[in-house]
Amino acid sequence: MAKVLVLYYGAYGHIETLAQAVVEGARSVSGTEVTLKRVKELFTADEAKARHQKTDFVAPEANPEELKDYDAVIFGTATRYGMMAASMKHFLDQTGSLWFTGAMVGKLASFFTSANTQHGGQDAAILNFQTVVQHLGMIVVPIGFVSPAVSNVDEISGGSPYGASIVAGTMQKPKAVSENEKEIARYQGKFVAETADALVKGRALQKK
Ligand SMILES: Cc1cc2nc3c(=O)[nH]c(=O)nc-3n(C[C@H](O)[C@H](O)[C@H](O)COP(=O)(O)O)c2cc1C
Repeated sequence: MAKVLVLYYGAYGHIETLAQAVVEGARSVSGTEVTLKRVKELFTADEAKARHQKTDFVAPEANPEELKDYDAVIFGTATRYGMMAASMKHFLDQTGSLWFTGAMVGKLASFFTSANTQHGGQDAAILNFQTVVQHLGMIVVPIGFVSPAVSNVDEISGGSPYGASIVAGTMQKPKAVSENEKEIARYQGKFVAETADALVKGRALQKK
């Protein structure tokens, strides 16, 4: 059975909503075990409150060491200046022993993100996130254009061949996560889970 972890960091709830859609898609693949966890916030509770951040997340915090227990990790991070958020990077900076022992080699990695604006660096955040997982020896799983929702130009929407994303809107004009964005996220979860399943079954056959 393939084990998939959806691991997210967000401060205001958009990424968490998208993470739940990714989980939904992954759980639609029978025989897959899907876990939703989040990355620990670096800000103190008072600092987070002062920034009007969300504090009541649905998922428990992950331990960096547990990454080795999954066949695929679907990482979701809010965009910070076109990159992953520091809390996500801090989490990854604690995976030195996994790198040293080669524990992540051959596992799957896929990405989703959110940013306030339509051209706010979603693609950049995903693409430069890939650098980290390639050091760990993971296999990057993009989503291409298979889901028609990726090519939808009838509305403002996140999502690209690199992974699902959200245009979250600004303080003045906030935007909820759209059905199109959730559709892409569900597709990503399903595609990664199917790929993980094929990989696990193929490796089991090789061992026989
Ligand atoms: C320090 C900082 C940097 C940010 N950088 C960007 C950015 O480069 N582009 C952008 O469109 N939004 C940027 N944002 C907005 C966040 O990406 C946005 O709040 C987040 O994606 C919303 O997701 P969440 O609700 O899950 O936190 C930034 C926000 C902060 C606090």
